[in-house]
Amino acid sequence: MPVQIAPSVLACDFANIQREVEMLNTSEADYIHVDIMDGVFVPNISFGIPVTQAIHKHARKPLDVHLMIVNPDNYLEAFRNAGAEIISVHYEACDHLHRTLQAIKQLGAKAGVAINPHTSVDLLEDVIKDIDLVCIMSVNPGFGGQKFIENTYQKVEKLKKLISHKGADTLIEIDGGVNKNNASLLMDAGADILVAGSFVFSSSNPHKTIQDLKKL
Ligand code: DX5
Ligand code: ZN
Repeated sequence: MPVQIAPSVLACDFANIQREVEMLNTSEADYIHVDIMDGVFVPNISFGIPVTQAIHKHARKPLDVHLMIVNPDNYLEAFRNAGAEIISVHYEACDHLHRTLQAIKQLGAKAGVAINPHTSVDLLEDVIKDIDLVCIMSVNPGFGGQKFIENTYQKVEKLKKLISHKGADTLIEIDGGVNKNNASLLMDAGADILVAGSFVFSSSNPHKTIQDLKKL
């Protein structure tokens, strides 16, 4: 399967969100990545449910919602109703991850787990078959435009092995600092989906940048 691209609207022009989403609709993007930050789990606040609804209203690509929030269980239904196709919660924010994953699936969404740079992929061993997507954070979550952490390649390879050893069909997503220099290496390591925020939206032609990432 060719690599899938999930541009993060965190880096888009919020004053023109409809136009930005329409640009993504006509691009080769596979998902629209929606970053939710609560100012508690991460030291930044992005936006919440009404903005997600507004994105969904115009989107013709599935929404990949990344919840960087504490107590995600309290908001799963709201984000599902706001249009999320994939809902990723943070491993570090869930005391009962297995239960949370079942709750996401019961809502009819795909269940994702995001792990911070310090969290080992080994910790997912007993739950990997219940996870549709693992989002490996390649920066510390909270901000767009940060530098890619090189240890990520190793984590992708290790996770890929774990997935095949367990006979799971979990997808591997990489989030943070993705650009044209690391994208092919990430694909070679086993990544299925690449999130790209500033690399896409800070470029002079985001539409073409998405196409270029797809072609790598
Ligand atoms: C970081 C977010 C990322 C971010 C990626 O906390 O989860 O999705 O928007 O942005 P870039 O690609 O600029 O690192
Ligand atoms: Zn994200």
